[in-house]
Amino acid sequence: MKNILITGGAGFIGSHVALELLDSGYNVIVYDNLSNSSEESLKRVEELTGLSISFYKGDILDTNHVKEVLEKEKIEAVIHCAALKAVGESVKKPLLYYHNNITGTLSLLSAMEEVGVKNIIFSSSATVYGDPETVPITEDFPKGAPTNPYGWTKSMMEQIMTDLHTADPNWKVILLRYFNPIGAHKSGRIGEDPKGIPNNLLPYVTQVAIGKLPYLHVYGDDYDTHDGTGVRDYIHVVDLAKGHVKAIDNLDKLTGVEIFNLATGHGYSVLDIVKTFEKVNGVKIEYKIEGRREGDIDETYADASKAEKVLGWICDNGLEEMLEDSWRWQKNNPNGYEE
Ligand code: NAD
Ligand code: WQD
Repeated sequence: MKNILITGGAGFIGSHVALELLDSGYNVIVYDNLSNSSEESLKRVEELTGLSISFYKGDILDTNHVKEVLEKEKIEAVIHCAALKAVGESVKKPLLYYHNNITGTLSLLSAMEEVGVKNIIFSSSATVYGDPETVPITEDFPKGAPTNPYGWTKSMMEQIMTDLHTADPNWKVILLRYFNPIGAHKSGRIGEDPKGIPNNLLPYVTQVAIGKLPYLHVYGDDYDTHDGTGVRDYIHVVDLAKGHVKAIDNLDKLTGVEIFNLATGHGYSVLDIVKTFEKVNGVKIEYKIEGRREGDIDETYADASKAEKVLGWICDNGLEEMLEDSWRWQKNNPNGYEE
């Protein structure tokens, strides 16, 4: 296994996966329509690794183009990161989200089937568990009801790939359920570059820290958690990226549909994040407690021991490193990839 295609490879997670794959000796081919990213991320990955990436600007909805790329580049496995991911926007524009994510995935899978590439590693999400009855969450927890169309697209895409394997056991399907990826590469050269006002906690915090936003809105302090604010399992994006390399490394020994939680197994609250960010970076984060955000759950964190046992994957970075690295990226690139 050598030639790996990453759909959505110019994005936050895809660019970090590209870097780790290159560093591990794989050839990386990226397919991205740049709807939520910039080619600059890939240039920087090339700069950091001293290796090159074959980049194709294209849309996964374009089945014929995807097919051409798969054949031309002799692709052996696909890491499927391409998706629209803004939860709030998905509530307002469900058709856009179902079309891009579901139809896009059907198009990609059809192209793969036609050319006989039957190995897929899918960017799934903890959102597929819905509101779990207990924590920590193991992979055999039942899937729940996601609280928004984005979450449903992830759940449905998992089902589509599972059904594909049932119909044709030659398919290998690895579902990686990410918890909350944050942080950035230690170089401070690649990181998360949200368009407009960030939806996720960490980019919001770093934009408050740099003075682009006045204060953090803390959504609720009456949850059933140690300080009343929401608890999540944050994971360093580089550790997450290494999980993908481990999945590819182990593809030969995996059969069928395999699910892995990618997480640290530790839950931290919004206020834990604020306080730790202030402590490790020496920057004050102004915040105001406000009402709950619709669709949020109180607490989620994972049991990630399956990935350790089966793939030999462990996280190297704790919360302090995640927050230092998020800040380094923001400080060095106040306008993201725009110079
Ligand atoms: P991102 O927006 O930075 O990256 C997604 C990439 O996909 C972008 O570069 C975008 O241009 C591309 N893309 C979107 N639609 C496309 C299409 N139709 N054709 C080609 N390219 C397309 O997001 P990310 O945070 O890097 O997320 C990557 C994947 O991980 C997504 O599937 C997302 O749903 C999933 N995920 C993300 C998180 C998170 O918190 N960031 C958590 C769980 C799962
Ligand atoms: C984390 C915590 C908020 C912003 C989302 C998606 C999920 C996955 C990851 C893709 C919560 C609180 C946040 C803010 C806040 N994405 N918060 N003020 O909601 O766990 O997960 O991203 O698959 O599907 O739903 O992440 O970063 O938005 O929120 O107080 O400005 O921070 O209430 O407790 P979430 P998040």
